[in-house]
Amino acid sequence: MSRQVRAGRIFPRRVLVLAGLVAVATTVAACGGSAVREAEGGGDEGPVKLGVLVPLSGVYAPLGEDMNQGFDLYLDEHDGKLGGREVELVTVDEGEGPQTAVPAAEKLIRQDRVAAVTGVVSSAVALGVTDLFNESKVPLVISNAGADDLTGEASSDYVWRTSFANSEPNAAFGPYVADQVGDGGVYVIAADYAAGKEAMGGFKETFEAAGGKVAGEQYTPFGETQDFQPYLNAIQRSGAEAVYCFYAGAEAVAFVKQYKQFGLADELPLYSAGFLTEGGALDAQGDAALGINTSLHYAPDLDNPTNERFSATYQDRFDEEPTTYAVASYDAAAVLDQALGSIDGAVTGEAIAAALGEAGEVDSPRGTWRFSETHNPIQTYYLREVRKQGDGYTNAVVRELEG
Ligand code: PHB
Repeated sequence: MSRQVRAGRIFPRRVLVLAGLVAVATTVAACGGSAVREAEGGGDEGPVKLGVLVPLSGVYAPLGEDMNQGFDLYLDEHDGKLGGREVELVTVDEGEGPQTAVPAAEKLIRQDRVAAVTGVVSSAVALGVTDLFNESKVPLVISNAGADDLTGEASSDYVWRTSFANSEPNAAFGPYVADQVGDGGVYVIAADYAAGKEAMGGFKETFEAAGGKVAGEQYTPFGETQDFQPYLNAIQRSGAEAVYCFYAGAEAVAFVKQYKQFGLADELPLYSAGFLTEGGALDAQGDAALGINTSLHYAPDLDNPTNERFSATYQDRFDEEPTTYAVASYDAAAVLDQALGSIDGAVTGEAIAAALGEAGEVDSPRGTWRFSETHNPIQTYYLREVRKQGDGYTNAVVRELEG
């Protein structure tokens, strides 16, 4: 990648760019809404300005870092260009929720006048910013947040997703867990916000349809729960024979470590969508995560030629295994590459959204996929298991899940 792009990501150059834009932004505001839609660098030539909205702080900051790495790697492999055009990235902090993310997204659209935005980890944020993108006609290519409705009932022309919908990895896992647990009940526990609720909803639907029984249910305050002991006590008292959960990032580390310390790991198998044991969370959990089975659409050892190359390059470059967050962001760059490459003329939000609608197959490390009618990837989910690998740990693919 050109240093220029990376420098744009790591503040000094970006600050200069923004300082230069203050006057422009004021004019834009004074001229009213329509001027907002003319993206910077939106002509036929010259760099295209793209916004990156990821957590640089809070519970999900490590996920944001993986997403930045995935996007950077794609740009590196394509001479810093997407669709043959130079790219300038403006990265802003999503933080832990809409309070941080909405003003950051507004700044990208109104002040930086980006042509499109990618990123967004949290479902609460995604639900809070999509109206802004639809109204401004700036495409948002979500590379994590799974809020079901965004590519379901509330799907829209300007919102695309390269990751997953929250219910999917969990619905894919329900019948398997029902089969493993047999007559015993499963306790479900999750972070108390849209993603945790939808994850548990997706799981319970297929788990119960397959004959599984729920022994208890609990939602823990998101971003505020450090001590899970009262919840672990309740799980123990419930008589459940297994636990199904949704946690990611720093909460996943705390939950898995405390689950082990409390003694539950040796008694009740813990199941979850794969975010629980992904990337930096798994490194921090260490032995406490050994043997945990999860469901996800990616694992570093997935057997396909694109992943073999990607996984090796990523490890060379960042000295760690790639994660689902990095892959979804790598793929966001890939679909923007396809879209920008097919635009003949001015790069406007409308043109990018229309071009995304024509995107073909994406040759991804997770295996080839394409967008559904409602802009979500059509993809396969896998059963994974946490195993030791050298001095570290990995999520190894066991087999495909039937769903
Ligand atoms: C979400 O809020 O949609 C979300 C956050 C973190 C994950 C997965 C989903 O790892």
